[in-house]
Amino acid sequence: MAVRVGIVGWRGMVGSVLLQRMQQEDDFAHIQPRFFSTSQVGAAAPAGALPLASASDLEALGECAVVLSCQGGEWTSATHPRLRQAGWRGYWIDAASSLRMHDDAVIVLDPVNGALIEQALDRGIRNFIGGNCTVSLMMLALGGLLREDLVEWVSAMTYQAASGAGAQNMRELLAQMGVAHQAAAALLGDPQAPILAIDERVSQALRSAQLPREHFGVSLAGSLIPWIAEDLGNGMSKEEWKGDAECNKILGRAPGASNRIPVESLCVRIGAMRCHAQALTIKLRRDLGLADIESLLASGNAWVRLIPNTRAASVAALSPVHVAGTLDIVVGRVRKLAVGPGFISAFTVGDQLLWGAAEPLRRMLRILLPRLALV
Ligand code: HSE
Repeated sequence: MAVRVGIVGWRGMVGSVLLQRMQQEDDFAHIQPRFFSTSQVGAAAPAGALPLASASDLEALGECAVVLSCQGGEWTSATHPRLRQAGWRGYWIDAASSLRMHDDAVIVLDPVNGALIEQALDRGIRNFIGGNCTVSLMMLALGGLLREDLVEWVSAMTYQAASGAGAQNMRELLAQMGVAHQAAAALLGDPQAPILAIDERVSQALRSAQLPREHFGVSLAGSLIPWIAEDLGNGMSKEEWKGDAECNKILGRAPGASNRIPVESLCVRIGAMRCHAQALTIKLRRDLGLADIESLLASGNAWVRLIPNTRAASVAALSPVHVAGTLDIVVGRVRKLAVGPGFISAFTVGDQLLWGAAEPLRRMLRILLPRLALV
C-alpha cells in the first residue's frame, strides 16, 4: 500500500512549482496523495486523488504518514502543534519558516546536509523544513567548499527577485515596469528625443501616487529596495539574520559551537522575476590556488555549474534570466582578492522557487519513502 501523503498549499506559487516538479520526477507513482484545501473542500483534486479535504480537518491530516505543506506559516503555526498534541507521529515537511529553528526540526538541503538528515531520521526526528531560499542557494553554490570545511566566514550581498516576496509582488513589478514604459513611450518613439527628458518622465512616473505599490510600498521597477523582511531593530533585517542562523543549523553547528561559520549579509530586492543572485566575499580557512578552488566549487553537487570568470561567459550565463526555471546553480566571478591570503569573491544565481523552495521538499519526501515502506 502506497504511503499516504497530505499535500497542503499546492495551488500557491511554491506549491504549483512543487507539483510540477513532482510530476516531472514521477513522485506521484510512489505515493497516495491526499490534497487539502482551506477554501474548496469537496472539489475535485489533481492526479485522480480523492476530493479535496479540509486543511483544518485534523483527523484527515492525521491519516497521512507525511504532510507536505506550502500553505504558509500561519497555517503551520495553527495546525502543527494541534496535530502533534493529538498524537500524530507522521513526518511534517514544510516550506514555511515557522518551525525551522525548533530543536526538533531539521532544515533540509540534502545535497549539503544529506548525512545530517539521515542521522536525524535515525534519531526519530519528524519535522523537516525547507530553508530560506537565499541561504539554500548560497550553500548549494558553495557546497564543494563547505564539504571540505574550507569556509571561515562569508559576506553575502544579495540581489533578490520579486518572487521571494510573493506572486502579487511579481505582478506588481511588471505593472510598475509597464508604467515606466508608458511614461516614456511617446519620446522613445523619437530617436532625437533627449535622454534626460525621457529619464525625467520615468522618474516622475515611478514616484507618482498612481504607481501600483500596494505590495512593495515603493517602486522596485527602475530601482531597488535595500531591506527584505522584518526590521529586527539592531540594524539587521530578518532575512540577513537567517543567513547566519540557518546556514549553521543546516550544517548542524549549534549556537556557541566553535566551528560555526559566521555569515553576514546585506539583502536587497531587485527587479528580477524568480532568481536570487548573490555577490559573496569568502574567507577560506586555507589559502588554496585558484584552480583548486574552482575544481572544488565545480564538484560541489550535480547542479552547480562553474562559469569561467570572463566577461563573455559571465554575461551569458550568470544572470537571473538565464537561470530562471532551471535547477542550475551557477557560480562564477571567482577570483582571489588582493586584501589578503584566503580571500575570494564569487557570484552565484539560482531559481528561488526551485532549489530555493520546492526542490528540497520533494527530495525530502523521496528520502523518506524507502523508510516508510519498511514499517
Ligand atoms: N525571504 C525570501 C525573499 C524568500 O524575500 O526573497 C523566501 O525564502
